[in-house]
Amino acid sequence: TKILVLNGPNLNRLGKREPEIYGTETLEMLENHLRSKGSELGVEIEAFQSNVEGELINRLHKAADEHVDGIIFNPGAFTHYSYALRDAIASISIPVIEVHISNVHKREEFRHQSVIAPVAFGQIVGLGLHGYELALLALNQWIEGEKK
Ligand code: DQA
Repeated sequence: TKILVLNGPNLNRLGKREPEIYGTETLEMLENHLRSKGSELGVEIEAFQSNVEGELINRLHKAADEHVDGIIFNPGAFTHYSYALRDAIASISIPVIEVHISNVHKREEFRHQSVIAPVAFGQIVGLGLHGYELALLALNQWIEGEKK
């Protein structure tokens, strides 16, 4: 089983960026943690972060061509307005779990809408970095079920 962990704009600054909202752990720590959880589960984790919309779209297409089994995606602020990312997810048939570290619903109004959610397999919001691990467990269980 192969799962792609995709992070969008400004998430390369995890640990330094608004730590009162996003915590003090870095993206590297998060990715390493997910890799070790993945190896316990027999899941290969691929991680990619970009601040560029088109690079995220290209990575989603590549995941489809490489037969990735599931995707954990925090699209950052693109969540709220990127129809191009939404269409990219709709164009592939891989389950995508949308993850947000913060509880976007108790923040600014512009964060309440997700244009990604209608094409996502599911959504995890407001559980901090733990949300990524929960997404990994959920995707892995679903993929295992599909293989039977
Ligand atoms: C975020 C929430 C978005 O509104 C914000 O633009 C981010 C991070 C989150 O993980 O809480 O960059 O996706």
